[in-house]
Amino acid sequence: MRKILITGGAGFIGSHVVRRFVNNYPNVQIFNLDALTYAGNLENIKDIEQAPHYTFIKGDITDAPFIDALFQQHQFDGVIHLAAESHVDRSITDPLAFVKTNVIGTMNLLNASRAIWKDSTEGKRFYHISTDEVYGTLGATGLFTEASSYEPNSPYSASKAASDHFVRAYGETYGLPYVITNCSNNYGPNHFPEKLIPLFINNIIHNKPLPVYGDGNYTRDWLFVIDHAIAIDLVFHQGKNHETYNIGGFNEWKNIDLVHLLCQKMDVKLNRPVGTSAQLITYVKDRPGHDLRYAIDATKINKDLGWKPSVTFEQGLEKTIEWFLSNEEWLSSVTSGEYQRYYEKQYLS
Ligand code: NAD
Ligand code: TYD
Repeated sequence: MRKILITGGAGFIGSHVVRRFVNNYPNVQIFNLDALTYAGNLENIKDIEQAPHYTFIKGDITDAPFIDALFQQHQFDGVIHLAAESHVDRSITDPLAFVKTNVIGTMNLLNASRAIWKDSTEGKRFYHISTDEVYGTLGATGLFTEASSYEPNSPYSASKAASDHFVRAYGETYGLPYVITNCSNNYGPNHFPEKLIPLFINNIIHNKPLPVYGDGNYTRDWLFVIDHAIAIDLVFHQGKNHETYNIGGFNEWKNIDLVHLLCQKMDVKLNRPVGTSAQLITYVKDRPGHDLRYAIDATKINKDLGWKPSVTFEQGLEKTIEWFLSNEEWLSSVTSGEYQRYYEKQYLS
């Protein structure tokens, strides 16, 4: 049986990737390695945790001896690496944590992969999941392509850029079979409520202020998380070694326009008079080094692998709001911190 290691599979995107792989590949052993930091939540994947070909491993990618031993024990055929510190605002207050996990952690996985694949790389693959934020910021026009230069502006994007460079260097120097994707902002079910969309959904539900940074005229490209998981599946199985693919939603929104759309939709869902939620919008101090605009040219993955988003933003946002409103228990367990006891309850009792 082939063995695939997915790192960060208890996080937002990773949980959707783990679910997809467990459900779609019953003849592959799927290992999910996650340190269960504040962002890791096993409740995200409790629907698949009993699958016979699925194993959860609690562990830290920064622990090199542990990672080496794990790879020697299981001899993975493929690695899909999502584990990361992922929140820009946290990277501004604690940049070193981002270097440790995103750079050193990735290095440990690269070294361990190299060691177990030293005799043959046939059928092996290291897939590194990255972000469009490595390219820095765009002005009013233009799109990021795979040829755009790396100009990261936040400690988060700098750490992701560094990890991308190391993955590429291991490919060039040691012949490690790798593939990298750089994706735009994801949204959808299980999104941790410190990021824009889930934070604002939660605050609207509880009539709390919606803190818009600066003038709100920052632009992001948004992709429904399940479409990212579909792209990851495709690239892992059909992408070309030593290639980079940009993934995006063809869906640019100014923050303030997106927030107004979200407010309108939430008013309808919550049976509140239209305009109620928008009154919660509060302009607050800007994020330092705030990138003005991200926008992705996803032509390559579309042409080479036939991928395109399966839902429109309207549909994806509807699904997301519906999910949060029907999973208020998940939301309150995450905002209260209760979810962090799930591992103890589930695995240690
Ligand atoms: P997330 O913060 O929701 O999840 C990260 C997961 O990694 C968590 O489960 C956490 O417990 C785990 N983790 C953190 N440090 C670890 C460590 N030292 N050892 C083992 N596990 C550890 O992040 P996400 O939003 O799901 O992002 C996943 C990946 O996708 C990241 O690499 C991120 O850079 C990339 N990405 C995210 C977005 C986005 O919009 N969220 C967009 C493009 C790319
Ligand atoms: P975020 O979800 O943190 O993703 P990223 O920084 O990776 O793009 O933020 C998305 C955009 O929303 C970004 O321009 C910052 C802005 N933002 C706010 O205006 N207020 C908030 O409370 C948050 C979390 C983000």
